[in-house]
Parts: sequence; structure tokens; C-alpha cells
Amino acid sequence: MSLLVLGVDPEFRFDWSSHHGKDGIEFHQCSIDTFFDSIDPAATYDLIFVDGLHTFEQTYRDILHALRHSHPCTVIAIDDTIPCDVFSTSRSLDDCVGMRYSLTRVADSRWHGDTYKVVPLLTAFNNDLRLITLIDAGNPWTLIRPSLAQRPGAVRDQERLPAPSIHRSAQSALAGASSTPLR
Ligand SMILES: C[S@@+](CC[C@H](N)C(=O)[O-])C[C@H]1O[C@@H](n2cnc3c(N)ncnc32)[C@H](O)[C@@H]1O
Repeated sequence: MSLLVLGVDPEFRFDWSSHHGKDGIEFHQCSIDTFFDSIDPAATYDLIFVDGLHTFEQTYRDILHALRHSHPCTVIAIDDTIPCDVFSTSRSLDDCVGMRYSLTRVADSRWHGDTYKVVPLLTAFNNDLRLITLIDAGNPWTLIRPSLAQRPGAVRDQERLPAPSIHRSAQSALAGASSTPLR
């Protein structure tokens, strides 16, 4: 049977090894960077769901990996782009839950980190991509269709930037993000 579903997580919380390799399902217990470094550079996937570390830097890296392994009909779905409140934007789960409880007395563990920053970041630096954020009664997702890209070189240009300069560029993009219309 060909591969149908593949999951990557450094720390699965279930008995993944007894399901690995069966019914077209694979589990890879490693970081997403290690996984993408290990696969065939030409491998592509139909649907890529990004729901990992809740920092915008890692989520942005995950999206760049996903774009590199996309074909024209791939859909990339990004979780955690709509924080539920200001506490949920903390970069640590403990800070999020602790500050929410100490200021509101509400015991609620919902946490999205600063993943939301990837939306203005992609809008500023990968502006050939079309993003759609779905907000309904369920969990909001931002969707990317790489086939909508107008300039295929844009992702490669972004990857050539050294990490500190991505970070600096991100900071300045985020500073001006409120005036940048979302596509
Ligand atoms: C919010 S949970 C979501 C898990 C899963 N998508 C689900 O819905 O059950 C985030 C997961 O990201 C994993 N994670 C953290 N850092 C990661 C990384 N560098 N690469 C891949 N996964 C990572 C964590 O172990 C955790 O299980």
C-alpha cells in the first residue's frame, strides 16, 4: 500500500510504533527539521498540517519546508494563527496559563504562542502566496495554496537569507504589519 498519512513529532503520546508502517501510515519520532533533512528532496505531499512548536520562527521554518515539498495542488494548513486571548499569545505555556489564571481566575489551558505572526510575515516576505484564514465555530486554520504563487523564486530567495537577518526582517515587517492588507 502506498503512503497515505505521515505524522512527525519528537514525542508522540501514544504507542506509535505498533501502528508505524501499517495501512499506509508512518510515524517519525523526531523534530520536523530532522525529518525534512532526511527525506528525498523531490518528495511532495498533498496536504501538510503545521501544528508543532508554538513559536513563529519554527512555524515559519515548517512552512518553508512544506512549500519546498509541495506540488501545484498541495494545501498547507497552519494551526494556531488566531489566538483566543492575549494570554494565549505567550511564548510559553506556563506563562500563558499562569498569567491567565492570576489575572482572570479562569483555569484554561488553551495556548497558541506567537504563531499568529507568520501571517503578516508571509504576507510581507512571501507575497506571491495567497493565504486564507478560516474562522468558524471550530479551530481556526490558515490555508496556503502554493499553486497560487506568482513568482516561484520567492521562497528560494527567502531561504537564502541567513537566520539573523530573517529575524531582523521579521521584526521590521511585524512593526509595519498593521498597515499591510492580508491577501
Ligand atoms: C499542539 S501539539 C499538537 C499535536 C497534534 N497535532 C495533535 O493535534 O494532537 C504540538 C506538538 O508539536 C510537537 N513539537 C514540538 N516541537 C516540534 C518540532 N520541532 N517538530 C515537530 N513537532 C514538534 C510537540 O511534541 C507537540 O506534540
